[in-house]
Amino acid sequence: PITPVILSGGSGSRLWPLSRALYPKQFLPLVSELTMIQETALRASGERFTAPLVICNDEHRFIVAEQLRAAACQPTAIILEPVGRNTAPAVAVAALKLLESASDPIMLVMPSDHVIQNADAFLAAIDQAAPAARAGALVTFGITPNAPETGYGYIKAGGSFAPFTGVLRVERFVEKPNLQTAESYLAEGSYLWNSGIFLFSAKAYLAELGRTNSKIIEACSQALAQGQRDLSFCRLDAAAFAASPADSIDYAVMEKTANAAVFPVEMGWSDLGAWSALWEIGPKDAQDNVALGDVLLQDVEGSYIRSDHRLVAVAGLCNVVVVATDDAVLVIDRGKVQDVKQIVERLKKAN
Ligand code: GDD
Ligand code: MG
Repeated sequence: PITPVILSGGSGSRLWPLSRALYPKQFLPLVSELTMIQETALRASGERFTAPLVICNDEHRFIVAEQLRAAACQPTAIILEPVGRNTAPAVAVAALKLLESASDPIMLVMPSDHVIQNADAFLAAIDQAAPAARAGALVTFGITPNAPETGYGYIKAGGSFAPFTGVLRVERFVEKPNLQTAESYLAEGSYLWNSGIFLFSAKAYLAELGRTNSKIIEACSQALAQGQRDLSFCRLDAAAFAASPADSIDYAVMEKTANAAVFPVEMGWSDLGAWSALWEIGPKDAQDNVALGDVLLQDVEGSYIRSDHRLVAVAGLCNVVVVATDDAVLVIDRGKVQDVKQIVERLKKAN
């Protein structure tokens, strides 16, 4: 069986004002009745999988435990990070923890905040990629790009990763290129987006991380050894974990390893990075609006309007996003939604 490892450390600041530091987007029901982390856990359940391992910020421990309980998805462990050190250490801690009780488990590393509309395609891809992961490859799932997004990793796919059907070699992995570079990759045609979902054995991952970042492994081993455990949580030692360099799995491992492989898959994937992504996948009326909650629209087109608790009326506007919560209202051009991040930064400074 494969062990799902759910990463839940992000703050989702571009979905402000719905997503908040204490209640980020993975804990919100954004596309269904279930929250994103519940969707993630349920997607990777069933006969192929063991119970999931979750790694999250200490502050979110009760939300994680409660949401998984409500989804009837009991985790094998919930590892708590006293501080965020990005994804390379988070995955290292998960690998080290799993190696305490299994000889070389296969890990399915998943962000907790992605949408996958075709779960069957996702599971079929995991089945096909698993033999390559068992043989030591670090497999990522590749998505056909449709825009020069600069927030993603780009993978130049090479020839087949024989003898594994459907799996391709990775010729180059470039994390978050600038716009010009992203445009050239899109024009070139053989690049895929990195979905951020990985399949590999715990030992294969640690071996590759150890080649370039042995300090991360040292710090993570200590943080785990000196941490506190009880029935529900495994809390990393704060000083030991804080000593780990902060880096993402993409920069620390995927850009550097010679063992990477990619499995291209069309599965209705979206990382819900910003409000425009929610407009894209949302249910639209005849004027291409997504209207959720108590909203009244007149002469409005191509917009995402959402209000949780009070009436919001919008008239005579195109391609806007309006999101109203109890204590804040966002009004922004649908083409500028990346700028929400700057708004949140200004708010943080002001506080
Ligand atoms: N536990 C833990 N600790 N989780 C973390 C941490 C951390 O310090 N930092 C981030 N995460 C979680 C986030 O909650 C998210 O679920 C996942 O790890 C990925 O982190 P992001 O910060 O969202 O990464 P990204 O979106 O910039 O880039 C990654 O995803 C893209 C696809 O959405 C990369 O893998 C890109 O290459 C990829 O294209
Ligand atoms: Mg992300």
